[in-house]
Amino acid sequence: MQSSVNYIKEKIGDFIPQIGIILGSGLGDFADSFKGIVIPYSDIPDFEEAHIEGHKGCLVFACIEEKNVVMMQGRYHFYEGHSMQTVTYPVKIMKKLGIETLIITNAAGAVNKNYSPADLMFITDHINMMGTNPLIGHNYDNLGVRFPDMSEIYSKNLIYKAENIAKNLGIKTQKGIYAATTGPSYETPAEINMLRILGADAVGMSTVPEAITAKWCGINVLGISCITNYASGIGNKPLSHKEVIETADKIKDNFTNLLMEIIKVL
Ligand code: HPA
Repeated sequence: MQSSVNYIKEKIGDFIPQIGIILGSGLGDFADSFKGIVIPYSDIPDFEEAHIEGHKGCLVFACIEEKNVVMMQGRYHFYEGHSMQTVTYPVKIMKKLGIETLIITNAAGAVNKNYSPADLMFITDHINMMGTNPLIGHNYDNLGVRFPDMSEIYSKNLIYKAENIAKNLGIKTQKGIYAATTGPSYETPAEINMLRILGADAVGMSTVPEAITAKWCGINVLGISCITNYASGIGNKPLSHKEVIETADKIKDNFTNLLMEIIKVL
């Protein structure tokens, strides 16, 4: 990790990020609106290159609302064949750079039948259906303990603050449980029924590895899902990545306003 951290520190000088933001599918443009220092993952020693439609692959360091922020434009997904170590590596690097809070965003399908595409959902908890755990393997005791508590991954305090902000902005939000599958195939209707019975409100293919890792190393986590589609079997049309990106694009204004105000109060 030290070579990655050293390289980044060379580029950012005395900028110490307080807040990290992982920008999910279709939400990466948020970082483009700020003048900052852009570092492609491919330039950073020990970072792998990310390739996926709707994602970029850069760290963007910028001062937003007088807060020092590091944004991930594009993330590593397990379904791309990356190991859990690679998927969660940037979280550990952001921790080493100094972040105290991590806002994790994603695009997700609605499992809860009361949700609709273009809703924003604060994640209250998650169900890990990825069949593995990012903390398997050697434990770096200087970052976190071997058996970390996960009874409150997503900070209730941050959700409370974010909900109030959304209310003041007139943005309707949901609060619910995010289930993560590996992908890359979308779920079957039977799997979505199962997830609903298990208590999930939304489903996606990310976030859980990064959230577990962040909690493990003592970072406060806020999770925001952009509901981009009805999950399999709920709507009457097949799911497509194009639809996910198009809906994420539609939510962009609300998402941007919300994120800006949240950064202000952190
Ligand atoms: N399922 C899984 N991942 C997703 C979905 C979905 O319906 N929508 C966006 N990401």
